[in-house]
Amino acid sequence: MTQILNIKNLKTHYQSAEGVVKAVDGISFTIGENQVFGLAGESGCGKSTLIRTIMRLIPKSASVSADQLQFKGKDLLSLSDVSFRKNILWQNISLVPQSAMNALNPVYRVGDQCTEAILAHTDLNKAEASNVVERLFDVVGLQAGLMKAYPHEFSGGMRQRAMLAMSLVLRPELVIMDEPTTGLDVLVQERILRNLKEIRQKSKNSLSILLITHDISVIAEMSDRIGIMYAGKLMETANSMDLFNEPYHPYTLGLKNAFPSIKSLDRELISIPGSPPNLTRNISGCLFYERCPFSIDICQEKPPQETLVAKDHIVQCHRIEDVEKFRKLAGEKETWQFSK
Ligand SMILES: Nc1ncnc2c1ncn2[C@@H]1O[C@H](COP(=O)(O)OP(=O)(O)OP(=O)(O)O)[C@@H](O)[C@H]1O
Ligand SMILES: [Mg+2]
Repeated sequence: MTQILNIKNLKTHYQSAEGVVKAVDGISFTIGENQVFGLAGESGCGKSTLIRTIMRLIPKSASVSADQLQFKGKDLLSLSDVSFRKNILWQNISLVPQSAMNALNPVYRVGDQCTEAILAHTDLNKAEASNVVERLFDVVGLQAGLMKAYPHEFSGGMRQRAMLAMSLVLRPELVIMDEPTTGLDVLVQERILRNLKEIRQKSKNSLSILLITHDISVIAEMSDRIGIMYAGKLMETANSMDLFNEPYHPYTLGLKNAFPSIKSLDRELISIPGSPPNLTRNISGCLFYERCPFSIDICQEKPPQETLVAKDHIVQCHRIEDVEKFRKLAGEKETWQFSK
């Protein structure tokens, strides 16, 4: 499979009054052609920082480093901001930001904002560009008449869909979506997810998606491959089926319990007690140690390395050989009731 995005050992550290915030701290993953990669994790684990780093929306005071950050084999780190904006942004990689509410310019009609992007980057004339936008509005489920409306006339869900349309106007090969459905009502969420699937099916070019959310059920429905992020690191990365059927990391086991599955709605939900560590702390062992019911001494002493546990299935945990036992225990409420 052709690699669209290839990230190796990416780190983004912010400067703050409390010290260095290691918001992204050694992340590696790849996204293939036509693949949806879902990135899930609790609030504050660094999801937006990761994509803001790719999109160059990070404050200049932050430090960014990586062994590799490539789009279709092209090194993104060595590109100047100007050539990133001119050659990559929108045409190759586009972003639907977390706060789509504020991303549209309030003084321009929504349709014009989309058309402008096409006029600025292609040879199409105004009528042709307008046709493209009309088709895309249809794809995301907005009536053509709404192209003439201003952002304040749109509901939250409509703005999300308008941003989605806008992110697709230049037919990028990678669309990054930061919480595209969070805060929307369930029906709107479902429609957007359905539209996304349709867009991918209809897309003649390859369309890969990096989908970010803290809702594991959205991720499960949409993704081919999933990364579970915790405190700036990827704890587990695997193809969706493998992650749900054979999870390894205790954090994944806990997250899985915290969300209802259709089959067992009556089951009591177990959520993981405690909260993620402060990202300015220097932690010598596993970042999940304090909340992990299965930790032993080494977990506090040494950071676990990435281990390939099965084909395309990567886990950072010291205790992978005991996983069968943990899978059983993780379903019991008592397992998660402990204090350290
Ligand atoms: N500009 C900044 N300066 C300093 N720290 C920051 C800055 N932006 C984010 N952070 C910190 O970096 C960490 C990761 O934040 P980020 O927004 O990437 O998380 P997230 O996973 O997207 O969370 P959410 O699910 O709430 O959107 C948090 O601790 C946050 O407080
Ligand atoms: Mg975020």
